[in-house]
Amino acid sequence: MKGKKLTFKSTSVDETIGFGRKLGMLLSPGDTIALVGELGAGKTTLVKGIVQGLGVTDRRVVKSPTFALVHKYEGRIPIYHFDAYRLEDAQEMLDIGSDEMIHGNGVAIVEWADKVPGCLPDEYLKITLTAISENERNIEIRSYGSRYDKIINNLL
Ligand SMILES: Nc1ncnc2c1ncn2[C@@H]1O[C@H](COP(=O)(O)OP(=O)(O)O)[C@@H](O)[C@H]1O
Ligand SMILES: [Mg+2]
Repeated sequence: MKGKKLTFKSTSVDETIGFGRKLGMLLSPGDTIALVGELGAGKTTLVKGIVQGLGVTDRRVVKSPTFALVHKYEGRIPIYHFDAYRLEDAQEMLDIGSDEMIHGNGVAIVEWADKVPGCLPDEYLKITLTAISENERNIEIRSYGSRYDKIINNLL
């Protein structure tokens, strides 16, 4: 099945956060967002926006869970923010109970998702961020699964 793809260029942190906020407003329980991109690409910045869009008003609560592996935020639905940067494989993530968080009633957001493909559900939204200059980021959004096709349609 062919997914949908949307690409745009963000020229500032605020624009990336604004896009994240718009996306966050469209998410429902059970959704998974897979984030891909090098260090400094803007994954955590985007998460700040998504979390705001899900109803968390204090964006300062959002920090990379590099050492904790997962942070939980209480928005209009629970948000599980994973960071697989330090992981060698998916097992360590499964060991902390990622399966229940990813297949549960919240939204799961996974930074460095390409390192732990075994933790992702069959259907998810993949966002790849690439730095093109100090303040510019290419943002590519790709849907895997029809519910995510709808989200992309609503972002257009
Ligand atoms: N357009 C942009 N979108 C997102 N971040 C940007 C942008 N321009 C500059 N930046 C900077 O890039 C860095 C992104 O860091 P972060 O979001 O922590 O990335 P990651 O989680 O991918 O390592 C921040 O220092 C931020 O200020
Ligand atoms: Mg990060």
